[in-house]
Amino acid sequence: MTPNAIVYTSNTGYTEQYAMLLGKATGLPVYTLAEAEAKLAPGNHILYLGWLMAGKVQGYGKAARRYHVEALCGVGMGATGSQLEDVRKTNRLPGTMPVFTLQGGFDLSRLRGVYRLMMTVMVKTAGKGLTEKQDRTPEEDDMLDMLLHGGSRVSGENLTAVLQWYGMKQENMR
Ligand SMILES: Cc1cc2nc3c(=O)[nH]c(=O)nc-3n(C[C@H](O)[C@H](O)[C@H](O)COP(=O)(O)O)c2cc1C
Repeated sequence: MTPNAIVYTSNTGYTEQYAMLLGKATGLPVYTLAEAEAKLAPGNHILYLGWLMAGKVQGYGKAARRYHVEALCGVGMGATGSQLEDVRKTNRLPGTMPVFTLQGGFDLSRLRGVYRLMMTVMVKTAGKGLTEKQDRTPEEDDMLDMLLHGGSRVSGENLTAVLQWYGMKQENMR
């Protein structure tokens, strides 16, 4: 089925930006998971986006219990299209579920509590590891830059594969 809404969970705003871009491109209504609980009846078919924490797509379990998740997007710090197998495994996704990863961003100042603590440690450990690495790939250079200086990698271009999938779904419905 073609999704009839976009539902998302965002902590610092990058996933929200992707959800809004997708809403604009598809014309579908966009809800946070909390809003959806009040406004979107169970059983609806949705495209779900959640930020990645230790490989888990935040809110996916809850969304999947209430809705038919037609495709899943995990927004993290890794490159768009990377970590797909890990995300599949960690979230125990059925093999038939279309999965996309999107590169969001990192801003330590927007994090609170335990998340801030975890990422402060991450900046120190992963940052040190990457700084000391001699033969960094361009992807690792970008990760190091994001860890040390923060920044957004949100772009419409990163949504190409998701929009292709959505276009195909629409074609199949004709
Ligand atoms: C505690 C914590 C764990 C994270 N784990 C991952 C991860 O496993 N993989 C990844 O790519 N990004 C990870 N990130 C980075 C976030 O997913 C990334 O900053 C994302 O853009 C946040 O989206 P949001 O602004 O919608 O909250 C982690 C961030 C935090 C705070």
